[in-house]
This record gives sequence, C-alpha cells and structure tokens, in this order.
Amino acid sequence: MNKALSIIIFSTLILLTLFAFSFKLHGEDEGDKKGTLKYKDFQTPEYCQGCHNDFYQQWSQAMMSQAYTHHWDEIEYFKLAVAHAEVKPELKDAVDGCNGCHTPMAYLAGDLTPPRPEEGSRANESVSCEVCHLIKGIEGDTAYNFNWIIEPGQTKYSSRKGEMESPNHKIVATDLYSGTKICGSCHNEKSPFGVWVKSTQLEWEEGPYADADVTCQECHMPDTEMKTAKMGTTYPDSRTHLFNGAHDPGKVRGTIELRIQPDIRETVPGEVVVLTVTAFNQKTGHKFPTGSVEDRIVWLHVEAEDEAGNIYHIPVDKKGFEGEEYTIASDVLAYQDMGVPLGIENFEGVRREDVPIGDRIFRIPYFDPEGRMTIMQWNTASLGVDYRIGPRETKTETYTFELPFEIEPGKLKVKAEMYYRLLVKPVGEYLEVPEEEYQEQLVNNHSTEITVYP
Ligand code: HEC
Ligand code: HEC
Ligand code: HEC
Ligand code: HEC
Ligand code: HEC
Repeated sequence: MNKALSIIIFSTLILLTLFAFSFKLHGEDEGDKKGTLKYKDFQTPEYCQGCHNDFYQQWSQAMMSQAYTHHWDEIEYFKLAVAHAEVKPELKDAVDGCNGCHTPMAYLAGDLTPPRPEEGSRANESVSCEVCHLIKGIEGDTAYNFNWIIEPGQTKYSSRKGEMESPNHKIVATDLYSGTKICGSCHNEKSPFGVWVKSTQLEWEEGPYADADVTCQECHMPDTEMKTAKMGTTYPDSRTHLFNGAHDPGKVRGTIELRIQPDIRETVPGEVVVLTVTAFNQKTGHKFPTGSVEDRIVWLHVEAEDEAGNIYHIPVDKKGFEGEEYTIASDVLAYQDMGVPLGIENFEGVRREDVPIGDRIFRIPYFDPEGRMTIMQWNTASLGVDYRIGPRETKTETYTFELPFEIEPGKLKVKAEMYYRLLVKPVGEYLEVPEEEYQEQLVNNHSTEITVYP
C-alpha cells in the first residue's frame, strides 16, 4: 500500500478512536442522567407488592426503602449538604448527586432538591423495586457514583434463567444481578475531590470472599425455599430481600470474635502484666466498619476489676504507625467544617468521639480541604490511616498494665469489650439526631482471670 495513504488511514483511525472515547467519557458524566425521565415512568413498590408481597414486606423493613426518608439522612442532607451548596454553589452537582443513590427516581426526574419526606412525594420511594429491576447495565468497568443504566418499561431484569413467565411484565435474565457491581454502583462513592469515600464493593473485590465467589447477595439476600411471586413457582433458592446491615443490631453482633489473655497468671501489686487481645473478623465480606465510615465508630475497651470491685481502665499500647493518633480515643475537637453550612463563624467543632480516652478505635479519618476531620463525605479532600478490620483479618492489640499498689489481692478479672456506633455521639447530639442512631451496641466481649497475691 502507498505509504501516504496508510498514514492517512492510520491517523483517521486514531482520530475516530479519540472521538469515540471522548464521546464515551461524556456519556459517563453523571450529570447526563439528571432530569431525563419522569416519575410516572416508574411503578410504585405497592404496585409490585400485588404479586411479590413477601419481597415487598422484607424490603420495606430494610434501610433501602428509607434511604431518602430516614431521620439522619434527612438531617444530613438538608441541614448540612443542601445548606453547604447554598454557600458554595460549586458543590451543587455533588449535592444533587446524593439523590442519585438515595432516591434515584427523583434524580432522574430532575426533582432537585426533592421535597422534604413529610410532604409525601414520590422521592420517598427511595431505592425502590423499579430502581433496581430496571438496571440493565453499568457504565465503564468500575461501579461507583450511581453509574447504573436505568431503562423504564415492561422489561424487568433479574438473574434467574429458565422458563419463568409473568402475566404482568417481561423478564430478562442478566448476570449483572448475581454479581456485585450492581451493588457497587451505589456502594462505592468518590468525592468531588476524587477520594474514595465509600468503597464497600471495592473492599469486597480485594478480599477473600471475591475469590470464593461469596457475593453481597449471599450475606444480604440469603436464599431460601419460597415462591418469588404469588402465582409463581417455589424455588429452593429464592433470593430474599432482607438487606439488613449495620442498622440491624443482630447483624452487627458477633461480627468480630474477641479473646483476651495475660502473659502471666499470678502476680503481685506493682508488677506489670501484658494483656493481648485478638480480634478476628469472622462475619463481614468487606471491612468492618464499611460504607459510611465517616460516621461509624468501632472501639475496643479493656478494663480490670479487682476483688473489691475497683475498676481500672487500661489504655491500649501504641504501635507507632503514622496517623495512629486518630485511632486512639482522645479529648480533642473535630468536625469544624460543619460550621460553614450551619452558618457559624469560627465554629470550634464538637468532641471527636466521646469514648473512653486511650481506647483503640478502628476507623479511617476523613479530612476536609483544610486537613480537619470531617463527617461530610462530599467535603473530603483526603483520608488518613485505614485502621479497620478487613474480611477474615485478625488484629492484635496489647495492653501493658502496671498493677497499682492499692489493688485488692485475690482474683483480678480482665475484660475486653468491643462497641459500635452508627454515628459519632457528639455529632448526633449536636445535630439533634434521634438517639437510636448513636446508641452504643456491644459487638462482642471476652474476659479472663489473674490471681493477685498480697
Ligand atoms: C400481576 C402479578 C405481578 C406483578 C404486578 C409484578 N410481577 Fe414480577 N413476576 C410475576 C410472576 C408470576 C413472576 C414469575 C415468578 C416465577 O418465576 O415463578 C414474576 C417475576 C419477576 C421477576 C423475575 C423473577 C426471577 O425469578 O428472576 C422480577 C425481577 C420481577 N417479577 C419484578 C417485578 C417488579 C419490579 C414489579 C413491579 C414493577 C413486578 N414484578 C410486578 C408477577 C408479577
Ligand atoms: C437493591 C436492589 C434491589 C431492590 C431494591 C429490589 N431488588 Fe429484587 N432483586 C435484586 C437482585 C440483585 C436480585 C437477584 C439476586 C440473584 O439472582 O442472586 C433480585 C431478585 C428478585 C426477584 C427474583 C428472586 C429469585 O430468587 O428469583 C424478584 C421477584 C424480585 N427481585 C422482586 C423485587 C421486588 C418486588 C422488589 C421491591 C419490593 C425488589 N425486588 C427490590 C435486587 C433488588
Ligand atoms: C440505587 C442505589 C443502590 C443500589 C443499586 C444498592 N444499594 Fe444498598 N443501599 C443504598 C442506600 C442509599 C442505602 C442507605 C440507606 C440509608 O441508610 O440511608 C443502602 C443500604 C443498604 C444496606 C443496609 C445498610 C445498613 O446500614 O443497615 C445493605 C445491607 C445494602 N444496602 C446492600 C446492598 C446490596 C447487597 C446491593 C446489591 C444487591 C445493594 N445494596 C444495591 C443504595 C443502593
Ligand atoms: C460474608 C458475608 C458478607 C458479604 C459477602 C458482604 N457483607 Fe455486607 N455485611 C456483613 C455483615 C455481617 C455486616 C454487619 C457488620 C457491619 O456493619 O459491617 C455487613 C454490613 C454491611 C453494610 C452496612 C455497613 C455500615 O457500616 O453501614 C453494608 C452497606 C453492606 N454490608 C453492603 C455489602 C455489599 C454491597 C457487599 C458486596 C460488595 C457485601 N455487603 C458483602 C456481611 C457480608
Ligand atoms: C454513590 C452513592 C451515594 C451517594 C452519591 C451518596 N450516598 Fe449516602 N449513602 C450511600 C449508601 C450506599 C449508604 C449506606 C452505607 C452504609 O450503610 O454504610 C449511604 C449512607 C448515608 C448516610 C448514613 C445513613 C445512616 O442511617 O447511617 C447518610 C446520612 C447519607 N448517606 C447522606 C448522603 C448525603 C447527604 C449525600 C450527598 C452529599 C450522599 N449521602 C451521597 C450511597 C450514596
């Protein structure tokens, strides 16, 4: 072939590829979907309930059905996020984007900012049946920031293959529903600063359960023998729609197994005992805590009780890693950036955690553009050390305890207790979030004994 011709063909190909690529990038722009559909393009969950009542009842008890209406969501969205975008208009897109995951229909209908939950609009349907069952694909390779593709209509998607028939709608089987990316489209989130502020599906992908093909559905939609529709077939492996997670104390309980042991069993006052706590994550398919990690707090408390009932709190031994100060409870203030949306100048912040000083905390600190800790994930410019407990990971902590001279001789009981809160307490109190959201829950505990001689 003529050399000049082949150069022309070659460069045309490159140009075409570049053009197609930029088109694709544009197509992936989240802003594109905003306001492209109408509420009436979607059926209500009550409509599906007519034939799928069991799934409807399960779903309506899960957070999925309250993603827009739940008290803390409403408070954070209106008091902090919407107010923040009013002060800083460059945040408007990110704040509209909250709805891309919490109430996708409102986002697609362009109903932004949606009415308050008490007004009873269709935004309240939150993550409804139609939202999930109209997802026909995910844009790109990584699922995040609501990059699902929703196409309203008579075709409902699911993964079961076979001769199913519904008098009401068409059924198309796709492997998307047995995989985890459909979940990742909302359970992975990047902040406007390009920081991963939610990465549940990515944590899963890097962990042991992905290799074993134990999907999100296995633990959050466990299968059982039941009918999937009133007039349908009984399957031995129907997928429940429980979606219970951190708001179910029964799901959280026992997530971590705890054991504590001393290095010596017999001692005297003034001597040193080193206690070792082993914390094994036996239950989660991602890290613990996961998801809204800016809000969640898990901590390990160790104390000793002597024969006279005196309690001695034992602080954790430092390991010396970078950023460790954020993983040990202390009496400092944080979350000053809330002052901006709240309209408080030079807001001094609230206490960082309010758990016993010296306790080990399993978390990632989120930092605002000024390097201060934040619970506003859309205002997160960087992350600190990731000191959470990975799936099937075991963390060990030591506690060096110098027995006080006034300790009562006899049996000394040493206890390890792990606690969990959905939201750091001082933030919950300050923003008047109902207490159930920051009530402490026991994850697990264990104790052992030492004998103290006079
Ligand atoms: C008039 C009854 C009826 C209504 C209303 C109805 N469905 Fe169905 N649906 C069925 C039947 C019957 C099946 C087939 C069940 C079987 O496999 O035996 C089915 C199957 C499905 C499946 C696939 C099941 C599988 O095994 O893969 C999905 C997904 C689904 N429906 C979603 C919905 C959604 C979402 C709505 C509300 C918009 C809805 N359905 C409304 C009767 C109904
Ligand atoms: C968060 C997304 C999500 C929501 C919300 C949701 N589903 Fe599903 N549903 C799924 C997934 C994923 C599967 C398939 C699981 C699999 O195949 O492993 C499924 C499966 C089903 C099936 C087939 C079950 C089976 O075992 O064959 C039916 C029927 C169904 N859903 C109906 C509903 C109805 C009705 C609602 C609302 C009350 C609803 N879904 C809400 C994600 C969702
Ligand atoms: C359209 C977005 C969307 C999709 C798709 C989605 N989720 Fe969710 N999910 C949410 C939102 C938003 C919440 C938070 C509700 C709240 O607390 O405000 C949530 C909550 C949950 C919870 C409850 C967490 C708790 O704190 O109790 C579980 C469990 C869960 N999702 C699992 C899944 C699984 C498994 C899948 C895939 C089959 C999935 N989700 C798909 C948006 C989604
Ligand atoms: C091996 C079982 C298992 C697998 C697999 C699993 N989870 Fe979980 N998940 C749990 C347990 C147990 C909890 C409760 C403890 C906790 O809050 O982390 C939980 C909690 C959650 C929560 C609430 C976390 C919070 O702090 O609000 C969400 C959301 C969630 N899972 C989503 C997912 C998604 C999405 C996947 C798949 C990418 C998945 N899970 C895979 C067991 C599992
Ligand atoms: C990419 C999807 C996505 C985006 C965007 C998103 N969220 Fe969420 N949000 C979730 C999921 C999924 C959960 C549940 C995670 C978990 O349970 O740990 C959640 C949890 C929350 C919670 C905690 C709920 C609880 O009861 O503990 C609040 C509050 C919240 N989001 C508010 C917001 C606000 C405000 C915005 C916008 C600035 C926003 N979200 C943007 C997906 C998203």
